[in-house]
Amino acid sequence: MSTPVVLIPGDGIGPEVTVAMKEVLAAAGADVTWVESLAGLPAVERFGDPLPNETLDQVRRYRVALKGPCTTPIGKGFRSINVKMRQDLDLYASVRPVATLPGVNVPYDNVDLVVVRENTEGLYSGQEHIVVPGIVESLRIVTRTACERIVRYAFELARRQGRESVTFCHKADVMPLSDGLFLSVAREVADEYPFVRFGEIHVDRLCMALAQDPSRYDVLVMENLFGDVLSDLCAGLVGGLGLVPGANIGVRYAVFEAVHGTAPDIAGKGVANPIALILSAALMLEHIGQLKIATKVQHAVRETLRNRVGLTRDLGGEGNTATITKAIVSNLG
Ligand code: NAI
Repeated sequence: MSTPVVLIPGDGIGPEVTVAMKEVLAAAGADVTWVESLAGLPAVERFGDPLPNETLDQVRRYRVALKGPCTTPIGKGFRSINVKMRQDLDLYASVRPVATLPGVNVPYDNVDLVVVRENTEGLYSGQEHIVVPGIVESLRIVTRTACERIVRYAFELARRQGRESVTFCHKADVMPLSDGLFLSVAREVADEYPFVRFGEIHVDRLCMALAQDPSRYDVLVMENLFGDVLSDLCAGLVGGLGLVPGANIGVRYAVFEAVHGTAPDIAGKGVANPIALILSAALMLEHIGQLKIATKVQHAVRETLRNRVGLTRDLGGEGNTATITKAIVSNLG
């Protein structure tokens, strides 16, 4: 029986890359039935709400979703849809595999790491208030429960994928209570996995080390804000935001999405790179057990990049969303 998957195109370049992703998955023979739902600007137009309950209920019903990016207007008291969705559905683990791809011109040729980011608290808890005019507080929430489950997730991922090390990234010298708690929990969990090497590093030091030699790192685990920043940094190591897929995983639900945002500077021009969403769809296919189709899609993406036919401008090509999609479909074999 075909697996129902909630599909949220989002806004900006979201609908454009969604069309491309659907074309590739259909050609690859993915056995999914899309249940289209709205979030972002189209949902504001239709329901007056960027993340309507109808959409959250569809994800609760079908358990798996693939989502395009959604705009968060800055400084308008509008809470990020992405943060709200991750918190409401308790999608506690953001998982972003970052690996060197063939044919992409970058200074490194041996990146193969996974960024595992705590997705529900930290500075993204949404608890900000004005103390007095001119003074604002943002609360950085850290709980033992959330620290433990994200670090355990990282170690379990390392074990499943046969990875050698887990590195915990923090700033416990400046935030001894919050990151201090996270660090002590990370050490406790690490003791349960003696066969996986455990490392600790300050976040600023990690940024420099990644720029110098990203091949030293395997699984990286960290709190929410550091993870948001480092995900984009790591995307840059392998060729940019158009290439890196992601998953938001909870105990009950999983929502797959590219690392990139709505790219307002290129939205509507038909030039967005759909690979990040296509690779996110491949992660979704793995999650629902369609492993062969997932591998076929990943292989076709790598072949397309290797041949450098039809590539979009972010990859140094002269093509557009349609030409790269056509090339990927033709490489499905
Ligand atoms: P962005 O990721 O949208 O864009 C950053 C740069 O990367 C832009 O120059 C853009 O053209 C380029 N880019 C991104 N994806 C690309 C693709 N697939 N192909 C080619 N080029 C691509 O980040 P930005 O500008 O910080 O955010 C724009 C909006 O997106 C904001 O409202 C933000 O809140 C939202 N956003 C949403 C996310 C989500 O829904 N998961 C994640 C990140 C940002």
